[in-house]
Amino acid sequence: MNLANTNIPVIAIDGPSASGKGTVAQLVAQKLGFHYLDSGALYRIVAYAAQQKGIDWNDANVIAECAKRLTIAFAGEQVLLTTPDFAQKDISNEIRTETIGKGASQVAVHAPLRAALVEMQHAFCKPPGLVADGRDMGTVIFPDAPLKVFLTASTEVRAERRYQQLRNKNQPANYESILADLQERDARDKNRAAAPLIMAKDAILLETDHLSISDAVNTVLQNFQQKMYK
Ligand code: CDP
Repeated sequence: MNLANTNIPVIAIDGPSASGKGTVAQLVAQKLGFHYLDSGALYRIVAYAAQQKGIDWNDANVIAECAKRLTIAFAGEQVLLTTPDFAQKDISNEIRTETIGKGASQVAVHAPLRAALVEMQHAFCKPPGLVADGRDMGTVIFPDAPLKVFLTASTEVRAERRYQQLRNKNQPANYESILADLQERDARDKNRAAAPLIMAKDAILLETDHLSISDAVNTVLQNFQQKMYK
């Protein structure tokens, strides 16, 4: 797919774990009636599928080959996976655990896997537009996106948000270990060679420590209107 020749607008929202980008991206997509790509879910699905097959998350080539054999479908909030080993299965809850989150950040360092997922991500870019959420949406996957946003918050605020999220889901949560885990994941995302987490030069920065979700959504929408109708 040659994205340079399409006029389909893309809003790329990148940022670290628990920065609120998933919530903001989904609300922006809803308001505009755009499609939504949760690219982190793809890395989570691969980590889950590899775990099911007993594949080591550090095995770059085997992981990439495993990813190529997956059929992934999103139906609203549902994540549906089909593999050569099992018929379609709803894995929406399984991929949201902290263990799989950790696995996703481990498999995401592999360049062959990232390459294997590019086409799948481009396929989300359909009329009337796309809001894409991840780490490399504006830098690698949709470098021509008319609006790029880098959404972030301090590590402490992000750890507090993740802690509350887990508590609300009645899952075990320990603030100190969540903080340590976020720091480890940030370091891995920023320091990897393949598509590291970095703010695109032409992105706008949104610091959300003191910004509500609705203010963040409105800021993205205003910037989008300005870019599209300037
Ligand atoms: O929920 P959280 O922000 O922790 O993670 P996520 O967005 O679901 O992504 C899971 C992991 O996938 C992240 O820790 C990243 O290492 C990786 N990822 C990536 O490398 N590139 C993307 N475009 C999206 C996620």
